[in-house]
Amino acid sequence: MGYIVPYLGIDLGTSNTQIYVRRKGIVIDEPSILVADRSAKRTIRAIGDEARALLGRTTGESVAVRPLADGLIHDFDMTEEMLRFFVRKAIGASRLFKPRAVMTVPSRITPVERRVLKKVAVSAGIWENQLNLVEKPFAAAVGCGLPVFDPVGSMVVDIGGGSTEVAVISLGGIVAGKTIRIGGVKMDEAIIGHIKRTHNIQIGDRTAEEMKISLGSALPLKTERRALVKGRDMITNLPQTAELSSTEVFESLRAPCQAILSAIQDVLSRTPPELAGDVMRSGIHLTGGGSQLLGLDQYIASEFKIPVLLAKDPLNCAALGVGHLAENFEQLHRIGRSSFLREENEE
Ligand SMILES: Nc1ncnc2c1ncn2[C@@H]1O[C@H](COP(=O)(O)OP(=O)(O)OP(=O)(O)O)[C@@H](O)[C@H]1O
Ligand SMILES: [Mg+2]
Repeated sequence: MGYIVPYLGIDLGTSNTQIYVRRKGIVIDEPSILVADRSAKRTIRAIGDEARALLGRTTGESVAVRPLADGLIHDFDMTEEMLRFFVRKAIGASRLFKPRAVMTVPSRITPVERRVLKKVAVSAGIWENQLNLVEKPFAAAVGCGLPVFDPVGSMVVDIGGGSTEVAVISLGGIVAGKTIRIGGVKMDEAIIGHIKRTHNIQIGDRTAEEMKISLGSALPLKTERRALVKGRDMITNLPQTAELSSTEVFESLRAPCQAILSAIQDVLSRTPPELAGDVMRSGIHLTGGGSQLLGLDQYIASEFKIPVLLAKDPLNCAALGVGHLAENFEQLHRIGRSSFLREENEE
């Protein structure tokens, strides 16, 4: 057996974490959740898939922790524990050397937030001098095969759990971009708020997400759908069921969908004309789990009269992107060349 240093592509997401191992592909794809004791020591009971299976079924002593929020680290210790667990699971027996990695980071984060993300990766076992950070929308664009190093403009809209990142990419860098803290989680919260207000029922996060996926849409549906939702009656505190229509869900999702639209509009308005012309020709590329909301592509296309293309594998684009860079690490030095343009075009 040769001494091969593992090379990883890590996409640390608010909802899901994925790890790509060079020459193997995506080997870890698990929710970014832990179940820990409520006590001061916070002993960890389960991480990732195992923790998800326990969700809503934890006893009084343990609690589910989502250590990231809005794409950023919210709970450092828990993020570190989770990432270390995933990294070890990804590299398995080959623990002789610390792995190298390319990891996604939200774009336009402060130097302090960047340092925190670096520190978490190093504490989780990544080789410090061999850690490369790549902005999420750039990774997503690489993952969906866009010509990121060419002198043409490509637009990607990555709608994750915690945030939506809009970016126009050219010559290996982000020319114009915007991040909003609105993604799949805010959509779920909008549904929870609606059911609370109109049906007096408190529903759980998972139920809300299921309703978003089964009934939700960004455009009104031609034929209305209905489903039963289970929750807790806010007055009696007893289990209660209500009937929910697709129209109600559509209405609740209007605000987050409009926010995504405004972010795209803002970036388009700051894109240099030549590159905007490229975007009009090649279209807007949607990535991230939230981009799968029914009709979101048509909703954006009809607003801007630009073709909108939903990526083939939206949940995996960013991980495939950092994975591609781990496979072709000689490309890493080409990233960021056009960052001077960014200074010019961003407020
Ligand atoms: N079919 C679907 N329709 C609408 N939303 C969906 C669908 N499938 C998944 N989602 C949503 O996608 C989100 C997760 O997407 P993703 O894994 O890309 O996020 P993330 O990378 O973890 O988050 P971030 O990049 O913001 O840190 C969740 O909010 C989930 O509810
Ligand atoms: Mg993501």
